[in-house]
Amino acid sequence: MLDLKEISYQPQTGERKIIDNLNLKVHENEIILICGNSGSGKTTLLEIISGLTNPQKGKIIWKNKILSPRQRRWFCGIVFQFPERYFIGTTIGKELKIGHKSLREKNIEIVLNKVGLKEINLTQPPEQLSGGQQRRLAVAVQLLRNPSILLFDEPTAGLDYSMRNDVKNLILDLKNKNTIIIVTHEPALFEGIPSRILFLEKGKIKNFVKENHAG
Ligand SMILES: Nc1ncnc2c1ncn2[C@@H]1O[C@H](COP(=O)(O)OP(=O)(O)OP(=O)(O)O)[C@@H](O)[C@H]1O
Ligand SMILES: [Mg+2]
Repeated sequence: MLDLKEISYQPQTGERKIIDNLNLKVHENEIILICGNSGSGKTTLLEIISGLTNPQKGKIIWKNKILSPRQRRWFCGIVFQFPERYFIGTTIGKELKIGHKSLREKNIEIVLNKVGLKEINLTQPPEQLSGGQQRRLAVAVQLLRNPSILLFDEPTAGLDYSMRNDVKNLILDLKNKNTIIIVTHEPALFEGIPSRILFLEKGKIKNFVKENHAG
């Protein structure tokens, strides 16, 4: 279980706490959807969980061990909002290999299969993929790191209807094998994916909103 205990965070330049004594428990292989108004701190929360931002107060525990920010950076795979903007590989193959000293072709094949990009030509630039495929590639990059927790910031943002469905299907494929936290404005889109829907407001997780069931 991932256990966030009494997390508070106020940026040095900020006047108020963005995250205020927040508690959250996520079970292994559970899917959580976090909703909330713009500016409510959803992205900040993902950055805290993934160790990119260090809260002033609180503990983050994974399987009964307190994790340091550095450990969380290893444990978590974060797919940022508009991840395709951060591709730096000149080809898909190079993008997948960034940060790996040695990577077996077999691993690449397994991960591409998982995200539904099996037939892809690795020598083409990432920009030649469709919007939905680019999101899949961004997920593949994270999966190659074998993260314990996968975090998605607005994974359907800026995609048209069919590509949003594509992303939903990808998450459906990852369920039961990964602990997943998704920040979204559109929880209805994820209907059919067994998940808990939570609301972030005034720095806290407000009462549990609803549960999605398998479609
Ligand atoms: N480094 C910082 N310094 C000052 N204020 C910050 C900093 N980072 C974030 N904030 C403020 O914290 C609040 C929460 O920001 P955050 O990006 O986490 O919100 P969000 O819920 O992801 O919003 P959106 O839905 O628009 O993406 C905002 O009011 C933002 O301006
Ligand atoms: Mg955000």
